[in-house]
Amino acid sequence: MNNRFNSIPNHIAIVCDGNGRWASQKGLPRSYGHKKGTEPVENITKICSKIGVEVLTLYVFSTENWSRSKEEVNFLMKLFVKFFKKLHKNASSNNIKVRHIGVKNNLSDELLNEIKKAEESTQNNTGMTLNIALNYGGRIEIINSVQDLLCQIKENKIKIDDINDEVLSNHLFTRGLPDVDLIIRTSNEHRISNFLLWQSAKAKIWITPTLWPDFTKEHLFQAIEYYNRVLH
Ligand code: IPE
Ligand code: MG
Repeated sequence: MNNRFNSIPNHIAIVCDGNGRWASQKGLPRSYGHKKGTEPVENITKICSKIGVEVLTLYVFSTENWSRSKEEVNFLMKLFVKFFKKLHKNASSNNIKVRHIGVKNNLSDELLNEIKKAEESTQNNTGMTLNIALNYGGRIEIINSVQDLLCQIKENKIKIDDINDEVLSNHLFTRGLPDVDLIIRTSNEHRISNFLLWQSAKAKIWITPTLWPDFTKEHLFQAIEYYNRVLH
């Protein structure tokens, strides 16, 4: 399948946006859009792993999304519990390693437990890493890293001069993983939205008007084609 491309991005990061609009356009409650949005998540994950993407990061809930209605947030949190339960079952058959990136505070014990199960049961898989960015924020991630590093300086474990790109990268949620090569954003929003601020320093960005629930393999392939065109 990857004969179609000269180069496959090592790390693809997707802002899964437009679920609410997808539902509103059909006269349905926003929750229908969120539910439908889990279909491309499963589909795109499988395709990325098949074509040899090393890391796929999906942005499904930001630290800013708590400001939505209580009803919507509750619905999403329940959906995430179901989603991680399913991932726990399916990821192993696709040799995928699951990782949650984001802040653990504010997440329910039930959700944290499902996340833990999915991560632990897939940690020895050798295929693609799937990062689920849930309660994720780029700034808080950098702040946490700086705090960690300052503690280490205080305890004389490292020196100020030791801090470089690599050292800081190794304190992010994405530690050990390559930088982002390609960001995909759906629903025509031209915003970064606090997503992988450090890791995307050199990333290419592809934006599509397609709403996330309608995102298919063809859209993914258009994005990878774009990546190949702008690579050099
Ligand atoms: C993305 O869809 C999913 C989440 C952020 C949880 P939105 O819910 O942002 O959908 P729109 O942008 O309102 O259409
Ligand atoms: Mg949105």
